Amino acid sequence: MIRSVITGCGSYLPENIVTNDDLAKTVDTTDEWIVQRTGIRQRHIAEDGETTADLGEKAARAAMKDAGITVDDLDLIILATSTPNNTFPATSVEIQHRLGMNHGAAFDMQAVCSGFVFALTTADQYLKSGFAKRILVIGAETFSRILDWEDRTTCVLFGDGAGAVVLEAREGEGSVSDQGILTCQLRSDGSHKDKLYVDGGPSTTQTVGHLRMQGKEVFRHAVGMITDVIVASFKATGLNADDLNWFIPHQANKRIIDASAKKLKISPEKVVITVDHHGNTSAASIPLALCEAVANGKVKKGDLIMLEAMGGGFTWGAILLRW
Ligand code: ACO
Repeated sequence: MIRSVITGCGSYLPENIVTNDDLAKTVDTTDEWIVQRTGIRQRHIAEDGETTADLGEKAARAAMKDAGITVDDLDLIILATSTPNNTFPATSVEIQHRLGMNHGAAFDMQAVCSGFVFALTTADQYLKSGFAKRILVIGAETFSRILDWEDRTTCVLFGDGAGAVVLEAREGEGSVSDQGILTCQLRSDGSHKDKLYVDGGPSTTQTVGHLRMQGKEVFRHAVGMITDVIVASFKATGLNADDLNWFIPHQANKRIIDASAKKLKISPEKVVITVDHHGNTSAASIPLALCEAVANGKVKKGDLIMLEAMGGGFTWGAILLRW
């Protein structure tokens, strides 16, 4: 059977680092409050004029270099983002053009913080169906552009960045020892819209709007939703938490990550944490964390990895894969 295997990954973070102490100069907050409630110590913020396409392009080039391929080897580009350069055309098409890719197709996906899990799942299905052989999946965000910088309850949580992977169709035996994606689980429930949303848009206010969140409500639902899709992934494969080498969750908040890992009995040393130095980069957070864990030698061939995310919508999902 066909397995979707990650053959390269790359990431990019804007150079500008904003610490909690920097934020405390403009909003009524403290480093202590932010670290205690979220685990976040700093985040990268795009310069004026530095766009989601700029970050995504850089991550894409790094991923292709890591995979040892050129754009000629790609069939499709999928970009997960909630902060596109324009309402249309899709930012992925701009990245496709910048990369010099004149064939195939590119499109954007919108599932907020779960965007990378949704995009990777979509790419997996395209590869399994034979529609494509090699797909570039990018998560890129400039959430700094949709934050209300006077709202201390939200502006301290997010950052900008991009990560990308090259996903390739390979033959597998159909067992859980195969390299590649073993199972994908996706969920959404629009009844939670008011808990996390942007208060603008082309069809409603004709503005971009700002992120609004009922933090406690998001927290209250997050752990249950995350564990639901992870348990479903274990059930689909017959594997369990002890089999995992790495848990690479969406990096929203260290308390949510710790509580999820505890509930699932995943030991802390298997959990990849980047929220402390990246903040919440929405759709970019998982590929950023994955790339960092690969680059620093944590992730090794044959390792079993659980990816997981939950975000606005609500949307949530998990992917279990063997490296
Ligand atoms: N600095 C200092 N004080 C603050 C700040 C801040 N940045 N923000 C809020 N406070 C104050 C509040 O005003 C409140 O003060 P009050 O008691 O005088 O009214 C007090 O701190 C407590 O506020 P709460 O909202 O009750 O704080 P809580 O402990 O719930 O923590 C937080 C807030 C961190 C947002 C938490 O609810 C949370 O982590 N929620 C999950 C949300 C999340 O991670 N979202 C990311 C996007 S969704 C996703 O990616 C999954």
